[in-house]
Formats: sequence, C-alpha cells, structure tokens
Amino acid sequence: MNKVKVEVKNIFKSYISSDDGKPLPVVEDVSFKVYEGEFLCIVGSSGCGKTTILRLIAGLQDADSGEILLDGNKIKSTSSKRGMVFQEFALFPWRTVQKNVEFGLEYKGMTPEERNELSKKFVSMVGLSGYENSYPHQLSGGMKQRVAIARALVNDPDVLLMDEPFGALDAQTRNILQDELLRIWAETKKTIIFITHNVDEAVYLGDRVLVLTKRPAKIKKEFNINLSRRRKRTNIEFVMLRKEILDELMEEINIQSPPSI
Ligand SMILES: Nc1ncnc2c1ncn2[C@@H]1O[C@H](COP(=O)(O)OP(=O)(O)OP(=O)(O)O)[C@@H](O)[C@H]1O
Ligand SMILES: [Mg+2]
Repeated sequence: MNKVKVEVKNIFKSYISSDDGKPLPVVEDVSFKVYEGEFLCIVGSSGCGKTTILRLIAGLQDADSGEILLDGNKIKSTSSKRGMVFQEFALFPWRTVQKNVEFGLEYKGMTPEERNELSKKFVSMVGLSGYENSYPHQLSGGMKQRVAIARALVNDPDVLLMDEPFGALDAQTRNILQDELLRIWAETKKTIIFITHNVDEAVYLGDRVLVLTKRPAKIKKEFNINLSRRRKRTNIEFVMLRKEILDELMEEINIQSPPSI
C-alpha cells in the first residue's frame, strides 16, 4: 500500500442558511484517507456537500472542526500543491489558452521563456497544441476543461482536486476526456480526488469510490474497484459494481424526494 497523501479527519462544516439564518449542517464527521498515486472518486447526490468537501481540502474554506492533512501537515490555506479543476468552466476569458495555463507560474518568479516552455508542454499534454493563442470563447466545453486541467497540472501539484469537471459535457466528449485523464494520470502519477454524481464515471475512473449520504454528507460506503485499467463498460463486473453503487446512491435520493400525494 502506498503512503497516505491526504487524510481527512472528522470534518464538520455548517453554513448559515439564507432561509432562516440558522446553521445548515453540510458535512458531518467525514473521515477518509487518500493514498499516493491513487485515483479516488467521491459520489453523492446533488447538494449533498461534495463541492464543500473539495473546497475544504483545497483550503478555500475552513472546517468548523476536524482537520485535513497533506503529507502529515495540516492544511491551513490554498496552495499550488493542490490543483483544482472546477465544476463550471473557470477560465479567464481575457487570456489566451497559453496565458490561462501560465497564470499560476507568473507568481513563481520564472522567466517568460521558462513559462512558455512549461505551458506549451502541458497544452500539448491535454491535446491542445495549435490552440495556444485561442481565447476561451473560441473553444468547445471539452477544450475549455482540457485547458483547466493543463492549468492545474502546470504547477506540478501533489494532489489534483476535480469537481465534476466533465459534468457539463455531452456524453461522447465526456468519455473521450475520461480516457485522456486516465492517460495523463498514468503519465504524471498524480494523486487525484474526483467528485462526480455519475456512478458510471466513478467506476470507470476510480481505484476506489466513496459514496456519500444526502446532506449533511457522511461517508455511506466505500467500494474498491478491483478491475483492470482497461475497463469495459459492458464487462459484467463493471455492470454489477455500477448497479451496487447506484443502489446506494438511489437510497439517498429516494429518501430526499418529497412524498407523492
Ligand atoms: N457559501 C454557502 N453558503 C450557504 N450555503 C451553502 C454555501 N455553499 C453551499 N451551500 C449549501 O450547502 C449544501 C451543499 O453544497 P455543495 O455545493 O457542497 O453541494 P454539492 O454536493 O457539490 O452539489 P452539486 O452536486 O449540485 O454540485 C447545499 O445545500 C448548498 O446550498
Ligand atoms: Mg458541487
């Protein structure tokens, strides 16, 4: 077993509800470990607290209690060591592809030549060579998410945090990007925490899948995906695992849905 890269320990998080001003518990006693080089998927129903958990790991916000360790050190703020790819396309519209990718490097004291070389390498890794000078509005959704992945990777993060990065894409583009991501993961050996509410995606990508309860998010169940890395969606083990995980998730969604009259 590889060493523990990220350890989430007994995290609680509430927001103040905009409805009644009372605390709204969103994450409740969540603990899990992520191992170096692992591809961990986290699935949960809409609004259960997935993004909140990822933002806590990114250091974008603080937990009410509990702690999160990276290589044994407590996470206190954001760091380029944790690269984030967001749910919505979060590119700078006024910057070209290459300038979007270079963004984080501008604060690292690199020369323009070094930045140019490094950003070109990662633009190429995500399959966008030739688009360096395009602007986000000239790209498809899939291409925008490729840029976002390159922008996160160029900083050589220890951990890549991905929040439903393919959620807004059509099914075909989504499948292509899943394969691309697996190729990049094999090439870079990054630790990845990948949030999705798509069970098929989680079983296709993950070494392990954590299923969350409805809000407030707790860990409901953990699945090891002991399938070969050339996964086939039609494979019987794949189909059975997908069904088992989907059943866990549906239980949460059913409880949430209003009673029919
Ligand atoms: N800044 C905030 N202030 C108040 N409530 C918030 C805030 N951010 C999130 N919430 C609430 O916390 C809950 C969990 O939000 P979160 O974004 O973590 O869910 P999610 O699982 O990522 O949902 P989705 O699948 O729709 O992306 C939701 O009920 C949301 O309305
Ligand atoms: Mg979310």
